[in-house]
Amino acid sequence: MINADLEKVILSAEEINSRILEVADEINRHYHHTVREIILITLLDGAIVFTADLIRHLSVPLRLDCIRVSSYGNSTNPETAPRILGTLKSDVEDKHVLLVDDILDTGNTMQKVFSEVAAKKPASLKTCVFLDKPDRRQNNFQADWSGFSIPDEFVVGYGLDYAGRYRELPYLGTLKPSIYSQSSS
Ligand code: PRP
Repeated sequence: MINADLEKVILSAEEINSRILEVADEINRHYHHTVREIILITLLDGAIVFTADLIRHLSVPLRLDCIRVSSYGNSTNPETAPRILGTLKSDVEDKHVLLVDDILDTGNTMQKVFSEVAAKKPASLKTCVFLDKPDRRQNNFQADWSGFSIPDEFVVGYGLDYAGRYRELPYLGTLKPSIYSQSSS
């Protein structure tokens, strides 16, 4: 049963799950036998669903850390430059770090986090995103691993929200236009 607010499903739960296995396999092959442990930093809130599914298929031992970056509020458009809220609990110097986010859109969030973490001198720094919207990019940022490349459509589900809602949906979809006009209620 699809959520009644959705116009269409873009990625089913099955499609997402099978792609996550492939991405995890690529990450495992990259770190296999070369690193003892990674620090995986997930970008709250949107990436928690992807992160939770991804890490259960990673064979490289990891420590989990979180960073909160807020930039979009309840809008579908970027309002301000990304702000990093709070600090990491891990000391990442000389550690192998993997940043995980739900979506690479303009690229401003990842670029900001990447440069802040890189300044702490990790042994290596890689990035993995669930979704990539290359048409929206405002810089040259590219993720090392990406689940799906999608066109410039506003999507919800699988961790992605509209006005804080729909993150729990196990699939990815677009909202009916009427939902946007009701959003202030
Ligand atoms: C979303 C998403 C990414 C960021 C990507 O975060 O989770 O972190 O935007 O956009 P960008 O590439 O244009 O910078 P949001 O601020 O909506 O917070 P959320 O993770 O809590 O949903």
